[in-house]
Amino acid sequence: MARDVWFETVAIAQERAKKRLPKSAYSSLISASEKGLTVSDNVAAFSELGFAPHVVGAPANREMATTVMGQEISMPVMISPTGVQAVDPDGEVAVARAAAARGTAMGLSSFASKPMEEVIAANPKTFFQIYWLGGRDAIAERVERARAAGAVGMIATTDWSFSHGRDWGSPTIPEKMDLKTMVKMMPEALTRPGWFLRWAKTLRPPTLRVPNQAGRGEAGPPFFQAYGEWMGTPPPTWEDIAWLRELWGGPFMLKGVMRVDDAKRAVDCGVSAISVSNHGGNNLDGTPAAIRALPAIAEAVGDQIEVLLDGGIRRGSDVVKAVALGARAVMIGRAYLWGLGAAGQPGVENVLDILRGGIDSALMGLGRASVHDLTPSDILIPAGFSRALGVPAADAG
Ligand SMILES: Cc1cc2nc3c(=O)[nH]c(=O)nc-3n(C[C@H](O)[C@H](O)[C@H](O)COP(=O)(O)O)c2cc1C
Repeated sequence: MARDVWFETVAIAQERAKKRLPKSAYSSLISASEKGLTVSDNVAAFSELGFAPHVVGAPANREMATTVMGQEISMPVMISPTGVQAVDPDGEVAVARAAAARGTAMGLSSFASKPMEEVIAANPKTFFQIYWLGGRDAIAERVERARAAGAVGMIATTDWSFSHGRDWGSPTIPEKMDLKTMVKMMPEALTRPGWFLRWAKTLRPPTLRVPNQAGRGEAGPPFFQAYGEWMGTPPPTWEDIAWLRELWGGPFMLKGVMRVDDAKRAVDCGVSAISVSNHGGNNLDGTPAAIRALPAIAEAVGDQIEVLLDGGIRRGSDVVKAVALGARAVMIGRAYLWGLGAAGQPGVENVLDILRGGIDSALMGLGRASVHDLTPSDILIPAGFSRALGVPAADAG
């Protein structure tokens, strides 16, 4: 990557994305529910955890490769599904290419701006993320489309609440990019000429439709129409989750688990994996950081299913903390979205390289030759850090 666009940390990627993207596009990448208590805690909690480094005997080589739901990945980091990556003309395809170039897997959102067939062609290690939207028949059609497209696993997300009352305002995603909308948005776009030119060169305006909510080859409904359908669909029961897992029949993750009792129900449903997650602070504000809930959940079900974590990962050292506390791997959201906003595909590769470098330094400092050797003893966990949700009060940490 050219020296002038290369960045050294995720925080710098965020600054670059802020400078490069129109205000409304950038705000959609940072906003979260209500006051933002949860999104802030997701990040702050990692700063409360310390390391217990060794002084001599660091291993000459450090091993980072692992597997998630049967897919080999080069480090314990993969792409978390996020909707409408239209901050860049290549969107999810750029992210999938970057993930493939760095040897990791892609979670592809149901609300993505690119069709699943194009994304899977760019990265065969793609898990399709599904929302419970439209009832069993409509869901079964999407499952079959994902199977035909070659998705290697399914991620079910049930914990999204697009809350109103966001102190930073809700993102504006227009119904369609017609002339009237373009004229309205022009002043904002013109303050970001680099971004504007990149889109202008493609001769097509940002896609605000969600093609994976329709049949193959169809444009799909506008984002907010699909969102309305999701709001109008009765939320799934545990029986629905077991049905979906059975219908898919392959590797299956339930994303958004924050409680030990829910993790156990997920095991009973036959899932292969869960992600301990609060949707990056986009669900119920006041939910603690995902990393605080991880130790109790990993302890309860980590020997039966794969336990991942997402929420607040900004550095390689955060990845190492999560793995030491029981995660098999982490999924990243805003970190790669900022890379994408800052510099497209190379920006996402840059973010993945930053995380890899950070994991390597942390392993070296801890004297660990492999991510598989990490244990809680590598981490300084302050008293009262963990939150064991969904366990009898006497057992809660
Ligand atoms: C802009 C944005 C869009 C998202 N869209 C989805 C989505 O469509 N499906 C989903 O399962 N999670 C979605 N998420 C949640 C992410 O997958 C992930 O849980 C979260 O971003 C992790 O927190 P982090 O951003 O601090 O890494 C979204 C998150 C953001 C920030």
